[in-house]
Amino acid sequence: MHFQWYPGHMTKAKRMMQENIKLIDLVIELVDARIPLSSRNPDIDELGRHKARLILLNKADLAEERWNDAWAEYFREKGFSVVKVNSKKGGGMKSIHGVIQEACREKIERDRKRGILNRPVRAMVVGIPNVGKSTFINSLTGKSCTKTGNKPGVTKGKQWIRLNRQVELLDTPGILWPKFEDQQVGLKLAFVGSIKDDILQTEELGAELLRFMLDNYPGVLESKYAVEEDDDAYTTLSRIAESRHCLVRGNELDTEKAALLLLDDFRNGKLGRLTLEYPPEV
Ligand code: G4P
Repeated sequence: MHFQWYPGHMTKAKRMMQENIKLIDLVIELVDARIPLSSRNPDIDELGRHKARLILLNKADLAEERWNDAWAEYFREKGFSVVKVNSKKGGGMKSIHGVIQEACREKIERDRKRGILNRPVRAMVVGIPNVGKSTFINSLTGKSCTKTGNKPGVTKGKQWIRLNRQVELLDTPGILWPKFEDQQVGLKLAFVGSIKDDILQTEELGAELLRFMLDNYPGVLESKYAVEEDDDAYTTLSRIAESRHCLVRGNELDTEKAALLLLDDFRNGKLGRLTLEYPPEV
């Protein structure tokens, strides 16, 4: 499967982020715990140089716990602070405030030496589309937070959300576009839904996911759909179509519908907790 993918607004989004990043102390970068490397845009390391860095392994509820731990270790070794989170259900949120303070210790210490006390840490959330930025911001801020509005010295129009006395968050997340030359990376991004389905052929994508499942998680499809797994992805897809009564024109099997069903089930965690890539050292 080959993608050609040119998202609009790419340059605009990057420019906006370059402007915003000047204002902040801490970059909170969300990655998808199922594909922590493929869901990163390498530009962020350049943009976020000299800033405190926090990586959130979001959707940790959808990935295997042992791999979440291995990834957390991997990023910590690279110097990032890391938290595993489930933004949808609020998992991992409690520890965030402590980790933010820890990640920004140097800045807080620097301020203190200059006699600046209680200046809040300013943070910005970044990540690729669909990784959970809005869900995370909503979960973190809840309803009790106040928007602080424009401030002197701050670019006009920027809204800050005061999380507590120590932290302010820029209310608009920075969108990074996935970047890939490797088609395998493109595939993984498509599996998790960070590249829109409408530019892809659903059936082909479903078959690719099926291949991944057959190779890495044998037996899962068998128990989920009550089908015998076949090494040939399309044969298995047809069996799923049959088992789930995906039919067109009377009784012809609708493998496209079966592919959609499979992709949906995967994205919603109905196939269980699955990790699609592993830390390079392992
Ligand atoms: P974005 O701003 O980065 O583009 O992502 P957004 O928050 O819109 O989240 C994209 C989808 O991911 C949403 O699902 C959201 O509910 C889901 N999501 C975000 N964080 C988590 C998480 O930690 N765990 C799980 N399981 N899901 C998460 P959706 O299908 O688009 O919407 P909805 O059906 O949940 O309302």
